[in-house]
Amino acid sequence: MTDNQLRLGVNIDHVATVRNARGGAYPDPVRAAKLAEEAGADGITAHLREDRRHITDADIDALMEALTVPLNFEMAATEEMQKIALRHKPHAVCIVPEKREERTTEGGLEVAREENRLAHFIAPLRDAGCRVSIFIAADKKQIEAAHRIGAEVIELHTGAYCDFHVEGKIDERDHELEALKEMSAYAHSLGLEVHAGHGLTYDTVQPVAAFPEVKELNIGHFLIGEAVFRGLTPAVQEMRRLMDKARG
Ligand code: PXP
Repeated sequence: MTDNQLRLGVNIDHVATVRNARGGAYPDPVRAAKLAEEAGADGITAHLREDRRHITDADIDALMEALTVPLNFEMAATEEMQKIALRHKPHAVCIVPEKREERTTEGGLEVAREENRLAHFIAPLRDAGCRVSIFIAADKKQIEAAHRIGAEVIELHTGAYCDFHVEGKIDERDHELEALKEMSAYAHSLGLEVHAGHGLTYDTVQPVAAFPEVKELNIGHFLIGEAVFRGLTPAVQEMRRLMDKARG
């Protein structure tokens, strides 16, 4: 991989969502992760939610065992999750906000509001060798706070940009895209590694993939849905192709 190449993290949460709709063992998120790996994913992302609505503790055990690419373990900043992360020591931990009633991670983490707690929370994860990333909105205040607490990486929330695109609100979409672009450059200037994700599709990925400061995109829901139509391997390969093309 060259320095300019963008990494693709494939989020396999929604393979587990389909499995859990029935209970039982199928479809298997680990099998999806291995296929995504072979299709060109540079990492696998999985979010162990407090309510275990998709990924389970056993899935994390199995992913840690089976993967040859790095696992990006998404979690809320709770004591329970910290213990699990410290037991597994995954390559990366991404701290996300979590509300029980939400369908998906709706916004970025309010780092600025709980800087002290988060600084203490991530320190042992960093000491254990995990690369800690913080999922935030494209907002200077949050980026500066993430930097101050000692995070190495920020992941910018692309959900609003993608939603405006789907709703055909072009001015709002472009405004969001501009904020993502400016804040990627700003975070990079502070020495943070910049990732992005949430809601990205074949239609929305390229403008974000073109930002030179962005090193990794994490994409899940769209790819798992697209896999129903064309299969997971071609779905991931097409995303990879579009990202590489945008990167030039
Ligand atoms: N990045 C983070 C931090 C997320 O929480 C999620 C959703 O779990 C994603 C990326 C992937 O979002 P999507 O499934 O909409 O592609």
